[in-house]
Amino acid sequence: MTGVNEIRSAFLDYFKANDHEVVDSGPLVPRNDPTLMFANAGMNQFKNVFTGLETRDYSRAVTAQKVVRAGGKHNDLDNVGYTARHHTFFEMLGNFSFGDYFKERAIELAWNLITKEYGLPKDRLLVTVYAEDDDAAVFWKKIAGLSDDKIIRIPTSDNFWTMGDTGPCGPCSEIFYDHGDHIWGGPPGTPEEDGDRFVEIWNLVFMQYEQTPDSRLDLPRPSIDTGMGIERLATVLQGVHNNYDIDLFRALISASEHETGVEASGDALSSHRVISDHLRSTSFLIADGVLPSNEGRGYVLRRIMRRGMRHAHLLGARDPLMHKLVPSLIREMGRAYPELTRAEALITETLKLEETRFRKTLERGLGLLDTATEDLTAGGQLDGETAFKLYDTYGFPLDLTQDALRVRDITVDTDGFDAAMERQKAEARAAWSGSGGAATEAVWFAMKEKYGATDFLGYETEVAEGIVAGLAADDAETNELKAGETGFVVLNQTPFYGESGGQVGDTGVMTAPGVKITVTDTQKKADGLFVHVVTVDEGTVTPELALELKVDHDRRSAVRSNHTATHLVHEALREVLGTHVAQKGSLVSPDRLRFDFSHPKPMSDDELAIVETFANEIILQNASVETRLMAVDDAIEAGAMALFGEKYGEEVRVVSMGTALHGDKTGKPYSLELCGGTHVKRTGDIGLVTLVSEGAVAAGVRRIEALTGAEARTYLDTQDKRLREVAGILKVGTGDVPSRVAQLVEERRKLEKELADARKKLAMGGGADGGTPVKDAGSFKLMARTVEGINPKDLKGMADEAKTQLGSGVVVLINVAEDGKAAIVTAVTRDLTEKVSAVDLVRIGSEALGGRGGGGRPDMAQAGGPDGSKAESAVSAIEAHLAGL
Ligand code: ALA
Repeated sequence: MTGVNEIRSAFLDYFKANDHEVVDSGPLVPRNDPTLMFANAGMNQFKNVFTGLETRDYSRAVTAQKVVRAGGKHNDLDNVGYTARHHTFFEMLGNFSFGDYFKERAIELAWNLITKEYGLPKDRLLVTVYAEDDDAAVFWKKIAGLSDDKIIRIPTSDNFWTMGDTGPCGPCSEIFYDHGDHIWGGPPGTPEEDGDRFVEIWNLVFMQYEQTPDSRLDLPRPSIDTGMGIERLATVLQGVHNNYDIDLFRALISASEHETGVEASGDALSSHRVISDHLRSTSFLIADGVLPSNEGRGYVLRRIMRRGMRHAHLLGARDPLMHKLVPSLIREMGRAYPELTRAEALITETLKLEETRFRKTLERGLGLLDTATEDLTAGGQLDGETAFKLYDTYGFPLDLTQDALRVRDITVDTDGFDAAMERQKAEARAAWSGSGGAATEAVWFAMKEKYGATDFLGYETEVAEGIVAGLAADDAETNELKAGETGFVVLNQTPFYGESGGQVGDTGVMTAPGVKITVTDTQKKADGLFVHVVTVDEGTVTPELALELKVDHDRRSAVRSNHTATHLVHEALREVLGTHVAQKGSLVSPDRLRFDFSHPKPMSDDELAIVETFANEIILQNASVETRLMAVDDAIEAGAMALFGEKYGEEVRVVSMGTALHGDKTGKPYSLELCGGTHVKRTGDIGLVTLVSEGAVAAGVRRIEALTGAEARTYLDTQDKRLREVAGILKVGTGDVPSRVAQLVEERRKLEKELADARKKLAMGGGADGGTPVKDAGSFKLMARTVEGINPKDLKGMADEAKTQLGSGVVVLINVAEDGKAAIVTAVTRDLTEKVSAVDLVRIGSEALGGRGGGGRPDMAQAGGPDGSKAESAVSAIEAHLAGL
């Protein structure tokens, strides 16, 4: 039982047998602790259980916790590779009691494990206790039988453990292993304690207090937190002295020896060690959702990666190396940490991309460094300007430059570096304020400078804690927001998505004891500052306040579905209409999605139906939605759709999903898009997508609106209900509705025609009065009639017929519509048009009807008038006119 994997299992099994719940490692980016950059101890995930804020259904737990100490309070980065025991990543084994057992049992459990299970010889072990902790000393004596000289009282903070500036804490007792007198060093508390002979292997913390910013409170119940670095324990159990000599690191180092062809000895030894350590931290960080960037956690990751990559370069690797070592890491650790295996592709691609890009500037930067330090000797110092140039132009993090000069014992003027950095910021500030931005934008710009970009946690979680960095209201920064006030909150980290890329900002709540805040929107400002638009419901919000952050889950889920569906609709449109389809805008909200795209003409119903079918085909594939980080050029080359004119960073998030079922892309990923939004895990989560409208927004730009999931179902339900209602009225099955409606429409058309014909007939001749009377008006024969309910456009035809009947004479037809308005047509047979004009007649008639004008030709004219009750007068007026000619 000496391999790291067996040592871990034995630890977990031992505590499980002693009624401890085996709990998975918490993520490296703690969800419940905004004060931490990365998980730095096994107790992080239980912080709120110790303080009583949270309860679990167990009171004893055991874990193997992933820890990164690079950035934040605990930072080991600078030493890694040069000492026997520093790591950026390590595993901490720990057992926990939440108000269950305390000191005595904790000591007993620990002692039995290391001496009986792991079989460490008692005479190689010694312990420290906090000077005032008599109880602990007594228990060690009683349980382990250690002599007094092996129970060392330490009066300093070395034996009082705190997680950070705040949090649970308490006195601790550490177990040391004596590697033997062939190694230099003295027991703890002696001047030689920093030697490597006596090595701390296990820390038992007797959690009793909670440190708050102002005071130290008692925990509700005394508890236990322990931590044992598995790497150190493995050295002891494997009979080696240096952590890098345990089986796990030997495997990783032999992989890098194999890939580089350089043996891990002499000068190359440190480089191999650095690479093996940095491979672990970078891979685990990427698996936990951190991606390289120039801010916050992403920058710590980048620093570690680039440091490793410089060492790969030192070993003479001419091609990217680190990604080739991922399989060995997964072989060693993938079983205990399945997230590594799941993220293998992402880890490999991210490492390869970063190394490929960094190599482009690495050699030139190192050349510059050589020239700049040519004349320096050991003890010398590189100027800050050059270090800044290396940082700014060649992508050398400061610690990489320091690391590169370390072997020559040359340091860097970090004050000069900071001054150069500050000067660059001031220039950016000046350039910005000269650009005439609005007052509120100036506030965001200033806050971004002061607090840095907000770390976005929302790809991984909807719930987290954050610390208030700054507040604003009414176009200015402020130092408090009180109950009833609205304003803006900026945090160090947030799960709330800030509106961008068409996706609306998240809403939700933020709370702290006595404080309740409603988040009504989240906006992204000043290139990376997440601004929460809030109303304070209770309490007062001030900077430094730690808040529980909770995104409105249902709303975010609906937004996610709509965003992923937008990608599917986009691709389906390209498939159906052609690749000229390009996104012109989009809106992804919880209730619907809107997608604008270039296309010259309206879509047919068939096209819409096929787009809908294609998008739903991929939903039914239930394909996983993959997110990767790629170089922009590579992404575009791989066929990713990007928005023309959109500003992208050097690296982009690429979201892909599904397998194309038809066309040239058959078998390839269906959709591949540059996108910073949040998406569903699998396409099946969308449920279904239904297109509800298609129309024009501008010349050559169409807009589609669609619904997904529950909204789509409700919409389709309503449509279905309406159809069934119609079928009920028609008294046919729903399937017969279309033919029945077509039949009814046709019948109605026929009936209308018949009715019109009958009315005409009735008007002009049929009917009880035996036809239209003809009278004499002066020398003319006049046929005049007032009718009702005739379609005005039929009047002229009727007048023509009347003329034929008449042979020679004048016809006047007036139709009075339902609303009382009149239409008048006058007609004069050809032989008489020299004597009388239909146009003159219609004007006379129209005037009598209260209207004006009218027009036509001498043989036929028409007009209207508002007052149909004057029809008889109109006829009389025309008659009188004819009589007078
Ligand atoms: N939390 C304690 C430590 O990290 C056990 O050392």
